[in-house]
Amino acid sequence: MKIGIIFYSLSGNTRQVAEKIEKNLSAAGHTVSLEEIRISGDTPAQAGKFKLEHVPSVEEFEALILGSPVQAFSLNPVMKAYLDTMPSLKGKKVALFVTKHLPMLWLGGTGAIGIMKKACEKKEARVVGTEIVVWSGKHRSRSIKNCEDSVSRLFSPSN
Ligand SMILES: Cc1cc2nc3c(=O)[nH]c(=O)nc-3n(C[C@H](O)[C@H](O)[C@H](O)COP(=O)(O)O)c2cc1C
Repeated sequence: MKIGIIFYSLSGNTRQVAEKIEKNLSAAGHTVSLEEIRISGDTPAQAGKFKLEHVPSVEEFEALILGSPVQAFSLNPVMKAYLDTMPSLKGKKVALFVTKHLPMLWLGGTGAIGIMKKACEKKEARVVGTEIVVWSGKHRSRSIKNCEDSVSRLFSPSN
C-alpha cells in the first residue's frame, strides 16, 4: 500500500515516532513516504502567526498517518492549519497519533486527537485508529512502542 506519514514536529519527538512507524511499514512491504510540514514564523507556533511553507500533498497516497504534538491542551496550531488545507480524503484509510508531555491523556491528548479525527472525517476519510504517545516519565519507551505496533497493525494484510 502507498502510505504517506505526514507530521509536524518542533523538538523532534513526533518525528522520532514517525520515523519508527516508517521503518516498520517499509519492512512490512509498504511504499512509505515521510513528509514533514514546515513553517516560517516564531515557534512555538501560535494560531495566525506563522506561514505554512511546506504543505505535503495527499493525492498520491492510498493511506495516511498524521502525527502532531499537543500544544496548550489542544492540537498544535500547525497541524490544525494543515488539516484545513487538505482536499477530500474520500476512500483513504487514515491513522492518527499525537505526542505529548503530560501523562494524563485528557490534558490535551484526547482533545487533539478528537480535532484531527473530526477534520479527517469531514473530508470523508476512514479513520481506522488513533494513538497518544506520552513522552514524560518511565513509560516513554513503552508508549512509543505501543504506538508503533498499533499503527503498524492497522496496515497489516488482515486489516
Ligand atoms: C508551547 C508548548 C505547549 C505544550 N503544551 C502541552 C500540553 O498542553 N500538554 C502536554 O501533554 N504537552 C504539551 N507540550 C509538550 C509537547 O506536546 C511534547 O513535548 C511533544 O512530544 C513535542 O513534540 P515535538 O518534539 O514533535 O515537537 C507542549 C509543548 C510546547 C512547546
